[in-house]
Amino acid sequence: RSIRGTLLWEPEMELPPRPTIFDFHGVSMIKYFTENWDNIQSFEARPSDIVIATYPKAGTTWVSYILDLLYFEEMGPERMASTPLHERVPFLEISVSFHYKGKDLADQLPTTPRLIKTHLPIQFVPKSFWEQNCRIIYVGRNAKDSAVSYFHFSRMNLVQPDPVNWSTFLQDFEQGKMVFGSWYDHVNGWWEKKQTYSNIHYMLYEDLTEDTGREIDKLCSFLGLSPSAEKKERVATGAKFDNMKQDKMANYSTIKMMDHKVSPFMRKGKVGDWKNHFTVAQNEEFDEDYKKKMKNPTLKFRNEI
Ligand code: A3P
Repeated sequence: RSIRGTLLWEPEMELPPRPTIFDFHGVSMIKYFTENWDNIQSFEARPSDIVIATYPKAGTTWVSYILDLLYFEEMGPERMASTPLHERVPFLEISVSFHYKGKDLADQLPTTPRLIKTHLPIQFVPKSFWEQNCRIIYVGRNAKDSAVSYFHFSRMNLVQPDPVNWSTFLQDFEQGKMVFGSWYDHVNGWWEKKQTYSNIHYMLYEDLTEDTGREIDKLCSFLGLSPSAEKKERVATGAKFDNMKQDKMANYSTIKMMDHKVSPFMRKGKVGDWKNHFTVAQNEEFDEDYKKKMKNPTLKFRNEI
């Protein structure tokens, strides 16, 4: 059965009401990420698996696209033109009743390595990834742009909780009342794990924006890949925002529960859009709170560029 272009809902199915957030082992979650919990926790990772882990809106789709091109471009344009990115790089924990389970898709991926996406905070990652010593790419994005991007995503994605309005959403963001919990806990938890588990490459959205080629080089060296200069150039060009925005297999335009008229998934793709959203007072308050929550001096986000 193909799920192509019908992630979550068949066209004839009514969309459900927006989900509500609840506390799940200390992390705010919605049912679409907890319903298949035992199966997700017993996921059988393979040593060759590559995980792309992020807090939502950090550039997951961008890095997934880059990795898919690096590994599978040779499989030809037909695959890329016909298989949505969310099938090429399954979203491990998503589960919508019988209809779509990211874990099942990951189990059935025909390619090696399997590229697997997750937004899980560190304490929820299935243990087999650690046991198999899988390579993990963590992408972080500065808190303010993450909040702005998450706000617009919540407006357009009808299976996210209702963001109400920007000022309510921002308060909820600071308090960690977000799907997948607190941004602060997420980025810090993964950073701490990196200190003891060497197979994590921790990269930043802002660095990828600044010099995509340089960041692809770092990714390749982490993954032990040595593509030609021409291939690296093709990957960097193919994964440019404007190209991906046009690519129906990557821009989520085929997915019913996202309303791109409210806000496109490929929205702006810029660093610093927070300046168009935060008031002076919101910014001061946010900075104060940020200092209290971000105590580890070795983890630095590029907030102000
Ligand atoms: P904005 O909402 O700020 O535009 P994720 O994939 O983790 O959900 O992240 C989505 C964010 O990454 C969106 O940010 C989206 O526009 C941005 N993005 C996706 N592809 C991109 C690309 N090729 N270059 C720059 N930003 C990209």
